[in-house]
Amino acid sequence: MYIVPTIRLARAQDALRIACMSRDFIEEGLGWSWRRERVLRAMGDAATNVAVAQGDAGVLGFGIMEYGEQQAHLSLLAVLPSRRRQGAGTRLMQWLEQPARVAGLEKIRLEARADNPDALAFYRRLGFEVTGRAVGYYGGVVDAVRLEKSLRGG
Ligand SMILES: CC(C)(COP(=O)(O)OP(=O)(O)OC[C@H]1O[C@@H](n2cnc3c(N)ncnc32)[C@H](O)[C@@H]1OP(=O)(O)O)[C@@H](O)C(=O)NCCC(=O)NCCS
Repeated sequence: MYIVPTIRLARAQDALRIACMSRDFIEEGLGWSWRRERVLRAMGDAATNVAVAQGDAGVLGFGIMEYGEQQAHLSLLAVLPSRRRQGAGTRLMQWLEQPARVAGLEKIRLEARADNPDALAFYRRLGFEVTGRAVGYYGGVVDAVRLEKSLRGG
């Protein structure tokens, strides 16, 4: 039986798992910048939400979003490979997007690796549009595709 994961705020004991998911599924080949301490700092930042998708066997995904005066920025998002294409990524994004909508922010911005067609397909499906490309954005090694989603009128 498939159990729909619960989306909740991350707790301190989730930080290492989140950091390891970032290392393995997002920062692969780039060096590991989102270590446990940085995740903990994000959790303690009043303008940032760190959310996890909690399944029956533990945390299966997470997302980190920063909220500014006019825009929100998605820093990280990942779901365990074995739990992809089951809606967890969409649920995490909806959960993180809701405070931005309530606060009346204009849009959500993010950068995705240009060598990650799966993520680009995912974000486009969620209504993000490509706004540009940043050459060598990831440590001079990998380009980023910049994407935005307007929160007005939708
Ligand atoms: C990107 C990612 C978070 C998506 O999570 P997910 O839980 O699999 O996403 P969902 O199940 O909610 O997918 C929603 C829709 O997005 C699209 N999509 C998701 N993964 C896709 C893929 N690999 N190829 C094409 N379309 C995809 C589909 O339209 C999908 O709907 P469908 O399954 O009904 O066809 C996940 O693939 C992941 O963790 N990737 C590695 C880390 C990463 O790239 N993070 C993003 C950059 S920070």
